[in-house]
Amino acid sequence: MSKVLLVVGHPDLSRSMANKALVDAVRELAHVTVHDLYATYPDFQIDVDAEQALLADHDVIVFQHPVFWYNTTPLLKQWQDKVFTLGWAFTLDGSPSRLAGKKAIVAVTAGVPADHYTPEGSNQATLETLLSNWHATLRLCQFDIQPMVKLYGTAFGLSDQDLTTAAKQYSELLAAFAA
Ligand SMILES: Cc1cc2nc3c(=O)[nH]c(=O)nc-3n(C[C@H](O)[C@H](O)[C@H](O)COP(=O)(O)O)c2cc1C
Repeated sequence: MSKVLLVVGHPDLSRSMANKALVDAVRELAHVTVHDLYATYPDFQIDVDAEQALLADHDVIVFQHPVFWYNTTPLLKQWQDKVFTLGWAFTLDGSPSRLAGKKAIVAVTAGVPADHYTPEGSNQATLETLLSNWHATLRLCQFDIQPMVKLYGTAFGLSDQDLTTAAKQYSELLAAFAA
């Protein structure tokens, strides 16, 4: 069984529709630890030792956040800056990091529909392209990078059925790591 750490970077889950639905879908899975960063660190003062211990104790790390200005949210960025330290999260001499081989999944919600995230669409690029800093960061940390999870159109009348379907798929994805 793989232990999954779900690092949630939503500013206020109590006011969330999409991210809350995804988190609620996996909250009861015994092998999943839900870690709500904004609830844990409302003052942005991140306990690096505690965060690194959490990471070390899990096999699969999921980074979930709404897309804010084609990026992650501020506290999740602060978390990266503090927790991904040289010699622990990444190395410069090719030696293994403490994160080497752990699976990483980036799971994001985007306000606009999927057709905006194409070369022809209003954003003129895919989410993978616009969030490529995630990929570069996870690669440097020697994670085993898994496909991005994307929930589009959260600000464009996403139906209850779409949300339910996305939550079910997310639950199935994370449940599979219990095997
Ligand atoms: C400050 C801010 C910036 C945002 N930037 C983007 C963006 O760059 N692209 C996008 O698709 N949606 C953007 N959105 C919309 C959010 O991604 C959307 O509100 C979120 O996915 C909804 O998730 P929730 O229901 O969990 O709150 C932005 C929202 C805010 C508040």
